Amino acid sequence: MAFREYKVGARLFGVALGGSMMITLYMPSLDITQVSSTEMGLRKGLMYGRVGGFSVEDPLLQGVNKPLTVVLRNDPKTGAPIDETYAYVYEAGVPFTSSIRHPRIMGKGVEDLSLQKGRIGEANQAQGAVFVVTEGRWEGEPTHYIENVTATRNWTPDLVRKAVSDKDTHYVGSGKIMFVREGCWWCHTLLPEQTQDWQSFGAPPRLGDFNSESPTAFGSDRKAPDLLHVGSRNSSREWMMMHFFNPRLVQPHSIMPRYDYLWGEVDAEGNSINYKQWRADYNDYVSGKRVYPPEVPEPASQSDARYLIDFVLSLK
Ligand code: HEC
Repeated sequence: MAFREYKVGARLFGVALGGSMMITLYMPSLDITQVSSTEMGLRKGLMYGRVGGFSVEDPLLQGVNKPLTVVLRNDPKTGAPIDETYAYVYEAGVPFTSSIRHPRIMGKGVEDLSLQKGRIGEANQAQGAVFVVTEGRWEGEPTHYIENVTATRNWTPDLVRKAVSDKDTHYVGSGKIMFVREGCWWCHTLLPEQTQDWQSFGAPPRLGDFNSESPTAFGSDRKAPDLLHVGSRNSSREWMMMHFFNPRLVQPHSIMPRYDYLWGEVDAEGNSINYKQWRADYNDYVSGKRVYPPEVPEPASQSDARYLIDFVLSLK
């Protein structure tokens, strides 16, 4: 190779490298405050809490110090029936999500409404607070914002927790920690990417869907279905329970690992779970000695399995 050709090649390489460096350096300077948070973005942030992964508040990734998502059907103060409302309960000391801590990241209109009408500036982390997402108008456009119902309606975390049953309490924030800790993202993405994806896994997210979520857990490599909208195509708690205990119960050739250990020691009734017996019965079923597989225990409400199922079913 002549030296001249080498020089041309080296220059072209320099241009390509320089170009890609420009993209790397300038693309992240996208100013998120220019993007208004969508309703989905507000709800995700409120569901997951401050950080949904490694953090000083939860160094061992146990899902502690997270908000609760509850479904209200009655006014917790008066008991009068109300339209089904999702409320996000931050008990005393639970770190607030980023949009409460830094309202700017919600985008101008959403920030203004949340501060002025939603009174989020009055929320106190040490005392705890309850938030809902409310529809308002900003510059004539329908806009969702965060309402601090502890300030606007006197709904305290205690009051709200007392008003809901276990069935209407969802440990979504803790469940996201399980998703990160258990490495579900090795096989699953939370981002439908290509057009053929959109037909089977649903629409891709919009920019404003992430204003306060950290980390986003998109995933990069996929060996399994995208889960961004899995709760819309499969909302069966029973199916999720069986599938996580042992995926082969519902998908005979599944390569997904079993997550039965997330059930812990006891089931929902407090009876200890006999894993050895369960597996022996299951093996009998696989080899044809039993007609039905053994029954999957109902996870206890404070178990990692319950957290994970609540998270997965929240992915609508
Ligand atoms: C080794 C790869 C692998 C890992 C790790 C894995 N999965 Fe899966 N998962 C699969 C495959 C393959 C399928 C499709 C077959 C099936 O349903 O079992 C699947 C299916 C699913 C489904 C049903 C999807 C649908 O479209 O209905 C859910 C929900 C799910 N996985 C959640 C999880 C969660 C949560 C974790 C982490 C705790 C996890 N998976 C870890 C491979 C994996």
